[in-house]
Amino acid sequence: MINLGIVLFIAATLNFKLCFSACARAEYEVNGECCPMCAPGNYVYWHCTVDTSTTCVPCPGSTYTDELNGLHKCLPCSLCDSELGLRIKKTCTRSADTVCEPLEGSYCTERMKDSCRLAVKHSECQPGQYVKQKGTSFTNTVCDNCTVGTYSNGSFTVCRPHSNCEIEGLKEIKPGTISSDVECGKSVSITSLLESLVQSLLKRQASDRSINYYSVPIPESDGQCEPVSEKLNCVYDNIFICIIEITIIFKLLRKQIII
Ligand SMILES: *[C@@H]1O[C@H](CO)[C@@H](O)[C@H](O)[C@H]1NC(C)=O
Ligand SMILES: *[C@@H]1O[C@H](CO)[C@@H](O)[C@H](O)[C@H]1NC(C)=O
Repeated sequence: MINLGIVLFIAATLNFKLCFSACARAEYEVNGECCPMCAPGNYVYWHCTVDTSTTCVPCPGSTYTDELNGLHKCLPCSLCDSELGLRIKKTCTRSADTVCEPLEGSYCTERMKDSCRLAVKHSECQPGQYVKQKGTSFTNTVCDNCTVGTYSNGSFTVCRPHSNCEIEGLKEIKPGTISSDVECGKSVSITSLLESLVQSLLKRQASDRSINYYSVPIPESDGQCEPVSEKLNCVYDNIFICIIEITIIFKLLRKQIII
């Protein structure tokens, strides 16, 4: 059995609600009256009256409304702050706010609708790790550790296997780590070292014997030249060869040649 009292009560509440929650969907309430809302891109210039509809005008520069509204003022366009890791993806229009996206090398950590509100830099992988997944505008870089026998300086997309010095006919002079390759060096025997010394001595003798005069211009002689003494020539040659020898020895020492 339906209780008439309850039905009346519900009807009364409904009526009450209808009266005071006022307006239809595309309307807004002002002083107890309902006025039609303004379209996106516009705002209310004059409220409606008994005779006239709402007067809407377009949003001025750098402001927008993106919904039907009864606003007296459009909303200010958002800025894409580079200090928040953002740049403009779509500029603001009268009917849509600016859309921001992460700067190159950053990813979005706070989103609102289509836009990004905060972005942070992709993290870098440490030496000994490789880039398992490159960061995107939505995701951070994913790193993983290299396994023994391979290496990466932190920017490789795969860990590379250590070089094999023996295969290249070289000696291992520094072992590899997960962040660096093995270092290979030339293995030089004593005989080849002596050979090169003997060769340079022979060269020196040969040049001592040859009569290579160095010439210097004679003062006040129209550019004519006169040979300098052979003694001086030899001194020059010896210094020259000496420098070459010292250079070779330093190079060998620097490369930590294994004998
Ligand atoms: C990589 O190795 C470090 C220790 O060297 C460890 O703390 C970390 O969890 C490892 N990362 C992964 C992804 O396995
Ligand atoms: C890693 O090595 C590559 C070349 O092999 C180089 O371009 C890059 O700058 C290096 N990265 C780091 C972090 O040292």
